[in-house]
This record gives sequence, C-alpha cells and structure tokens, in this order.
Amino acid sequence: MNIHKFVMPEVIFGKGSIQQVGESCLRLGATSVLIVSDPGVMEAGWLDMVVRSCQQVGLNYTTFYDVTINPKDKEVEKGCRVYLENGCDAIVGIGGGSSIDVAKAIAILATNGGRIRDYEGIDKIRYPLPPQVMVPTTAGSGSEVSQFSVIVDTKSEKKMTIISRSLIPDIAIIDPETLSTKNTHLTASTGLDVLTHGIEAYVSLAATPLTDVQSKNAISLVAEYLRPSVASKINIEAKTNMAMASLQAGLAFSNAILGAVHAMSHAVGGKYSLLHGDVNSILLPHVMEFNLLANPKKFADIALLLGVDTRGMSYMEAGKKAIDYVKQLAIDIGAPQRLSDIGVEEVELRRMSVVAFHDACMITNPRDVTVEDIEELFRKAW
Ligand SMILES: [Fe+2]
Repeated sequence: MNIHKFVMPEVIFGKGSIQQVGESCLRLGATSVLIVSDPGVMEAGWLDMVVRSCQQVGLNYTTFYDVTINPKDKEVEKGCRVYLENGCDAIVGIGGGSSIDVAKAIAILATNGGRIRDYEGIDKIRYPLPPQVMVPTTAGSGSEVSQFSVIVDTKSEKKMTIISRSLIPDIAIIDPETLSTKNTHLTASTGLDVLTHGIEAYVSLAATPLTDVQSKNAISLVAEYLRPSVASKINIEAKTNMAMASLQAGLAFSNAILGAVHAMSHAVGGKYSLLHGDVNSILLPHVMEFNLLANPKKFADIALLLGVDTRGMSYMEAGKKAIDYVKQLAIDIGAPQRLSDIGVEEVELRRMSVVAFHDACMITNPRDVTVEDIEELFRKAW
C-alpha cells in the first residue's frame, strides 16, 4: 500500500468568524501580535474588525499593511523589522494571497533570521515559527491552509516558491462575508485561480485519494458558483460556496502541489505586476491541452465535474470538452484572453520559459516538459 500524508491547519469557517481572530491568537499563547494586511483590506474595514477582536481579548497588536500584489522580499524584511521592534510573538495575516504569503515569510525571518531568498525551495526552514492565524479575504489563493509562500526576489525579478510544513498556519479563519467587498475583476481572477488549483492538484503526480476528494469538490463548486459570485457582490450563497471551493482547492494543492500553469505564472509574476489569477486563467487551457495525453481519464473526470455531458465520449474527447469549458468560463466572466493583452512582452518569453522550467511546481506536472515545450505554450498564450 502506498503511504499518503495530508496536512492542514485548524479551520474555522462561516459568516462572522472573523470576530474569532483575537480569541484564536490567545489560544495559541500570543500576547502581542503583528497583523499583516494591505491598503485595500484596510479601506474595506476588515483590518479594523481584526484589530477590535484583538482589543476585546486584551492582546497587544501592531499593524503592518505595506504589502503589494506579487509581494516583494523588501516588504517581508520591513515587516520583520516591525515584528521584532514591537516585541511581537504571533502573526495574523488578513487579505488576499499577498498579505498571507508576506505574513508567513515574516514568520520565517522572525525566528530563523537571514534573507528570505535563503529559504527558496523545499524544507529549508530550521527553527519553529511563531503562531500564525490567517484570514483570507479572497477566494482565493488557498494560502491560509497551504505550506507555500511565494515572494518576489527583486534582484533577479523571480518569484521564489518556499515550501515547508512549518508554513501551514495554526488556524485558518474563513469568513465568506469578506468576499463581498471585492470588485468583479478580482472575484473573477481569484476564482479562476481556485479552478487552476483544483485542476492542477487533481492531475498532479503527487495527487492521492485524500487530495482528490478536495480537488474534485472544488472544481464542481467553481463550475456552479463562480459565475453567480462574479455577477453579485451580495449573493452570500455564491460567496460561501466559492470560499469553500477556495479552501478545498487550497487543501488539495498544499498536499498534491501544482503544475506547469503555476510554474509559468510564477515566472510571469516575477517580472510583471499582474493579477496571479489573470495569468493563470490565460495559461490554463493551453497547459491542459498539453497535459491531456498524460492522464486522459482524469481530464475526462474534470469534464464531468464541470457539468459537461460526456456520454458516449472517449476519455480524450471528454478531456477536450473540459478545456472548451474552461475557455468559455473565462470569457463569460470577462477574464483576459491573451498574455499580450495584459502587457507581457514577446521578448521575455524565452527567459521566462527557463525560469518556469526550474520552478518547484514543475516537478509534479503530469507530463514531462522541456524549456522548448514551455516556450511553445507561452507563445500559444501570447
Ligand atoms: Fe494560485
């Protein structure tokens, strides 16, 4: 029998759960927390709610919201200084994947020292991290349950993927109400990232029955609820189901890892300040077409999960329908269609192909790839 491992944090899910942040920090032994966020989340009022929940239980706190999309090593170093200067002993991250990834990276430096680039790759962290409570406000990166942190090395213009068991937060607090302040574009982009997590984890070489349950459910939920979630800010049923999809896709990819879409989009995100989900959704159908040969049965399963009628079709035929569905979904919700439309320059494609080839996410892609394959995929998507 094969050995399967599945790791995850304590999860608190539901409307109003954001009010449990302070209490959750106390349970982890915190006395003074650093709350990491970004300006958008602060403006929407969610940071204030977290601050209040800390005040209510008598916790000291310091806020740090100098975080941008595709967060940079310099932001992590600055945040770590704030953590140490204020004598913090726990970290809360509230926001999209950027805030949560920065919060995790600050946790690494706080107890391990050095520069964040020292930890790129798998299992480089030596000492235990401070307690971490993460509150996602997008659906989403899945970072609140994952063992990943992705940070841009500003020197090499490369996204570094840090993977470690220590990066799994202690507690993830998922409040679907926080999704109600996101604009249409961000809802579409983050939702297509969830779909990419579900699909890449499902066909990953490291997928197991434990991760398949999560990724399959996530794919179905996106098919049913992403369109309504993009259509209405106040559709709480759609928001709740997208929050669940994001959680389950996060659990799947944290344990099964990802594939070529994320390897390639990390290479793009190191150079260009673009929404991660936009880049993924452009690349996803092209990578699915390339990967179909590696596991036709699983791609046929994906078609079924997306609600496609595959009766009478071969696995390859059904798999192709899944790709058509993904393309149409992106069109329906107004996602960008080509890399050239969002500012990626042709001259960068070769260099980014080499970077993507060496990304940690490429290891679990179901089909062998060469730098030339990646460049061809980039050209198709350009
Ligand atoms: Fe992602």
